[in-house]
Amino acid sequence: MPAIVTITFNPAIDKSTTISSLIPEKKLKCTPPVFEPGGGGINVARAIKKLGGNATAIYLAGGYSGKFLTQLLEEEHIHSIVIETAHHSRENLIVLDISSNLQYRFGMPGPVTNENEWRQVLEEIEKMNDIGFIVASGSLPSGVPKDIFARIADISKRKKAKFIVDTSGEALKDAVDEGIYLLKPNLSELSSLAHKEELNGNEVENVAKSLIEKGKCEVIVVSLGAAGAILVTKDIIHHITPPPVKKNSAVGAGDSMLAGIVLSLSEKKSLLEAAQYGVACGTAASMTYGTQLCRLSDTEKLYAEIRNSK
Ligand SMILES: Nc1ncnc2c1ncn2[C@@H]1O[C@H](COP(=O)(O)OP(=O)(O)OP(=O)(O)O)[C@@H](O)[C@H]1O
Ligand SMILES: [Mg+2]
Repeated sequence: MPAIVTITFNPAIDKSTTISSLIPEKKLKCTPPVFEPGGGGINVARAIKKLGGNATAIYLAGGYSGKFLTQLLEEEHIHSIVIETAHHSRENLIVLDISSNLQYRFGMPGPVTNENEWRQVLEEIEKMNDIGFIVASGSLPSGVPKDIFARIADISKRKKAKFIVDTSGEALKDAVDEGIYLLKPNLSELSSLAHKEELNGNEVENVAKSLIEKGKCEVIVVSLGAAGAILVTKDIIHHITPPPVKKNSAVGAGDSMLAGIVLSLSEKKSLLEAAQYGVACGTAASMTYGTQLCRLSDTEKLYAEIRNSK
């Protein structure tokens, strides 16, 4: 099976806890925290593992938090290539307020990244042979150049690997200037690519189609939260609707979806099957609590339902 490599420039340790009520100026008693490794590419590699596959996660990590991040990934048996950074890795805080059942997500900025650090990521990919898929997911910390995805796209082409990108904001706008195999924007990310507040109806398909026609990428899977996704290629426009489920937390839905798509493609499934499996994975992730990713058993049930409802 062709190898899958994921890249994370801005990983994090996600620390989750609960409090009885979020009240200002008071000492708030938290329940024992749960630590999880996080960041787009890292989560994609973790979700692939949960689905029975394997991926190599390349990521930057530094300081005591970087060591802890690596330890957490080792515990999950994720094959990793760690680029050591001068500054320490960020830690995010996720707090569930029991009284309101509302979740507060505090995202810290990533450390400033030096040129020799991000260059090592490129060198590691250059060194690899027989890569089928390169998945770059997540935000970029300061110091990483705007054209980093174009540089990875260039290496992917030379390695004959398919490059998949899931990011947002300026990083996404810069990424689509160079040939990418597959993009997975959500609705607001696709809207920002079209310089619009919000896209509706046919506009979603039209914007996706025009990006493909302009040669920006070959495949777009626009994720639409509970409404599923739209798969768009040169000759396909296909809506995929998941069965209704009880949503507990959609955190990690996008990463789980991407994991399902790339794992299926590496197993030589068709694009439609891959997108359907991706929707099953995303929906399965929305059924789990907190930051948990998709479970294989939920994913398989949902995938069978999606296939049968064609
Ligand atoms: N509330 C939900 N109910 C059912 N399925 C969901 C729900 N939210 C997300 N999903 C599933 O997960 C997929 C990806 O979700 P979404 O469109 O929210 O991605 P995203 O915005 O990129 O997520 P993330 O915040 O993780 O980056 C959807 O296509 C869908 O299959
Ligand atoms: Mg996303």
